[in-house]
Amino acid sequence: MRSFTLSTKWTALFVLFTALCCLFTPTVTVKHELFKTCDQAGFCKRNRAFADSASATGWETPYKIAPESLSWKNGQLQGTILKTINKNGETVRLLITISFLESGSARVTIDEEKRQKGEIDLRHNSKARKERYNEAESWAIVGGLELSKTAVEFRDAATSTVKYGPDGKFEAVITYAPFGIDFKRDSATQIKFNDRGMLNVEHWRPKIDKPEPEKKEGEEAPAPEVQTGEDESTWWDESFGGSTDSKPKGPESVGLDITFPGYAHVYGIPEHAGPLSLKETRGGSGNHEEPYRLYNADVFEYIMDSPMTLYGAIPFMQAHSKDSTVGVFWLNAAETWIDIIKQKEAHNPLSLGIGSRIDTKTHWFSESGLIDVFVFLGPTPKDVTKAYGELTGYTQLPQEFAIAYHQCRWNYNTDEDVKDVDRKMSKHQIPYDVIWLDIEYTHEKEYFTWDPLQFPDPIGMLKQLDKSERKLVAIIDPHIKNNGYHIVEDLKKKDLAVHNKDGNIYEGWCWPGSSHWIDCFSPAAIKWWVSLFKYDTFKGTMHNLFIWNDMNEPSVFNGPETTMPKDNLHYGNWEHRDVHNINGMTFHNATYQALLERKKGEIRRPFVLTRSFYAGSQRLGAMWTGDNQASWDHLAAAFPMVLNNGIAGYPFAGADVGGFFGNPEKDLLTRWYQAGAFYPFFRGHAHIDTRRREPYLAGEPYTGIITRALRLRYALLPAWYTAFHEASVDGTPIIRPQYFEYPGDEAGFAIDDQFFVGSTGLLAKPVVKEGADSVDIYLPDEEIYYDYFDYQKYSGRGSKTISAPLEKIPLLMQGGHIIPRKDRPRRSSGLMKWDPYTLVIALNKEGSAKGELYVDDGETFDYQSGAYIHRSFEFKDGVLASMDIGKKGKLTDKYLKTMKGVRVERIIIVGAPKEWEGKKSVKTGKGEAGLEFHGEEGGKASWAVVRNPGVAIGENWKIEF
Ligand SMILES: *[C@@H]1O[C@H](CO)[C@@H](O)[C@H](O)[C@H]1NC(C)=O
Repeated sequence: MRSFTLSTKWTALFVLFTALCCLFTPTVTVKHELFKTCDQAGFCKRNRAFADSASATGWETPYKIAPESLSWKNGQLQGTILKTINKNGETVRLLITISFLESGSARVTIDEEKRQKGEIDLRHNSKARKERYNEAESWAIVGGLELSKTAVEFRDAATSTVKYGPDGKFEAVITYAPFGIDFKRDSATQIKFNDRGMLNVEHWRPKIDKPEPEKKEGEEAPAPEVQTGEDESTWWDESFGGSTDSKPKGPESVGLDITFPGYAHVYGIPEHAGPLSLKETRGGSGNHEEPYRLYNADVFEYIMDSPMTLYGAIPFMQAHSKDSTVGVFWLNAAETWIDIIKQKEAHNPLSLGIGSRIDTKTHWFSESGLIDVFVFLGPTPKDVTKAYGELTGYTQLPQEFAIAYHQCRWNYNTDEDVKDVDRKMSKHQIPYDVIWLDIEYTHEKEYFTWDPLQFPDPIGMLKQLDKSERKLVAIIDPHIKNNGYHIVEDLKKKDLAVHNKDGNIYEGWCWPGSSHWIDCFSPAAIKWWVSLFKYDTFKGTMHNLFIWNDMNEPSVFNGPETTMPKDNLHYGNWEHRDVHNINGMTFHNATYQALLERKKGEIRRPFVLTRSFYAGSQRLGAMWTGDNQASWDHLAAAFPMVLNNGIAGYPFAGADVGGFFGNPEKDLLTRWYQAGAFYPFFRGHAHIDTRRREPYLAGEPYTGIITRALRLRYALLPAWYTAFHEASVDGTPIIRPQYFEYPGDEAGFAIDDQFFVGSTGLLAKPVVKEGADSVDIYLPDEEIYYDYFDYQKYSGRGSKTISAPLEKIPLLMQGGHIIPRKDRPRRSSGLMKWDPYTLVIALNKEGSAKGELYVDDGETFDYQSGAYIHRSFEFKDGVLASMDIGKKGKLTDKYLKTMKGVRVERIIIVGAPKEWEGKKSVKTGKGEAGLEFHGEEGGKASWAVVRNPGVAIGENWKIEF
């Protein structure tokens, strides 16, 4: 009955929302009241209060190491931390393990001894697991945990010192009392733990039921008995928005302060809408009032420049200064908040006035789980992202189609509609690779079915798409309609859904109405999920159908903060509280697994888009920034978000082109396509209540301009694919912020609206401001930069103005690079497979340039057996050479044979030397090829073109100019 009334109320509310959103779009913003502020989250409030106590004078941290407990073995230091819990000096024992890894990273883990031994009792006969959640590692970490063989430890009465890392240059100094750790590189402190005394492990305690204080008529209620000075009001249960969290384990948060001395900038901890360089969070002019929050949630129409949580969480942060980058990874899957303050410190009191430095002081706290922190000591941004990726894995190398353009809307209404859009895109010669289906393709929101009236012939639709090597992506969400259809019956029968706190199958509301949620923490559930995607189970699908996972935060319309109750139970009886931020990744993982196993013998790289994510999701596919709006500020917000995702190890990211809610004006739509052509994941998407906006509908000049932006993406696919390959082997972001490429240039540290594409030297600053007809782009060095389209030259460090009328994307080529392209326009990337290449050589001041190209079949895993081409190109002293930098494998020769006929059809040399005037040809290995020279004109560089040099892309060759 209760659930019935609730559900009805929520359906009504939901209908109201939908109606409201469309009346007021685009001015409607996020429903703040649906989401907690720090004050409304018990443990957040408690940890902030704790931080305030710790900041007061006379504070001493109650944590100290018992020196006699320490032991050192195989690169690992273990011991006991004693936490003093009252004035009588009683203590609680915590276990600390500090692991020094072969990779040079360090890891600090703190757990409760009593809980590890299971010596605790839960309240109200709860079925919840007693220990602190310790399985985040098994989902997030895939490697890099080998312990160091060379780390050495020294101990004295007050400290233990470990030397580790490359050449023993790293050092950890562990102080016993008060407990703290300083991490040093080359003897200088880079990261400090518990420097401010905010370490907080809320140890398990039994609830002592106190009698309700009596309140007499006409009197104030007596003040509650103060025992600890702490606010106990949220220890045993707490309510928000009409639902109560039963908290069977009581208070169990963990917190720690982490200071970066001398670092003025910190980046990372996606997902938030705001600047790349994170802001301070404890108030003050221009700062946030709230900490950055990580609690995956369906926050639609989110607001700009806010620390509010969004759909995904990666608790990884980099701190950056002119000569160093370091980082930390807070491995905890529970709700987490991070406070940041920056403090000016006198650099050296004796060096009279010579500089002061800024320290960034952070404070991390999570509702439950372990303290489990990895420390990366750099010294470059690339070292830090690489070390982080060694642990959590690198970006999956996607199929090539996945990095081309995706056409989506909620919804293409029928299979005929899909076929019609497909035909019209071809007719207008607009390239696209993938068309998408949102929830309406199903029979009444029953996943794994098709609406028999609207989609009577899915196979016919897929076959038409396949003719142009195009694909379909269909949505499958984790909520399973609770109406007795065969899938939900199976789910119930096999008991594979998430349970509520009483151990019964949890029921909530989502798109289908009443639903259950598959629990992908369960191996049996994953196995079952995999079985549902086989071609003979998911009827109406073929090899060119891929999957989109939405709503996997999970979004629950009638749940607290539109997600699941925290006291729900998952496989192994872990509370939802403990695993919330990983939940979306487990579902993404199961779907990835399912696409690997659709048919015996057919093994191709899966493509699965996810909305919710965690550290490690980069291994599974792309993400997008969720339900944005058709407004200029949402367009502007997307690059900082995508850049931030990239440096946090998840570069396959993009925002909905055009904006999800609302109807973009044509110039906004056009600018958004120009920007989207630089998102690693490039998809146009729109809400069901918006007007249709396929690129051919815009009319001229817009359709033409949008088509050119799309063709630019397609022409540069070889460069993008090479950048994806790089990300897949060492974690280097695909689009890179200024600080990442020029770590020593302070002027670039806060720039987040321009970026480099891979290692190509392409520097882009797409227009994101209404009415702008120029942009100021910042050049970090004295190199020559050429406009990508007309070779206009720019040079000299500092800001340059580039004219940018609507048809123009501000895009420069930095001298010294060679960029691979494919210039023949086609309907899809699949049809470009055998097309010849163009090499664009942008010469630097010395007249030389270098570049790389990575190519494989773009589809299978054969590249893992050597079936790929990896070339380095160099132009130097008038000679262009192509060199093999790949490793041979068992399939190399076979693959190279298939690529024999793929040649270079054109070489363009930008900034060609004057002496080439009059030159008519160049020498290739086999003979000669014609050269055409164009002199300098206005501010535009000279350039030359060589056509049909008669060389193949997969072979070694030299061309003499
Ligand atoms: C998916 O999760 C399983 C653990 O259940 C793990 O072994 C596997 O590596 C994950 N897959 C990927 C691609 O990360």
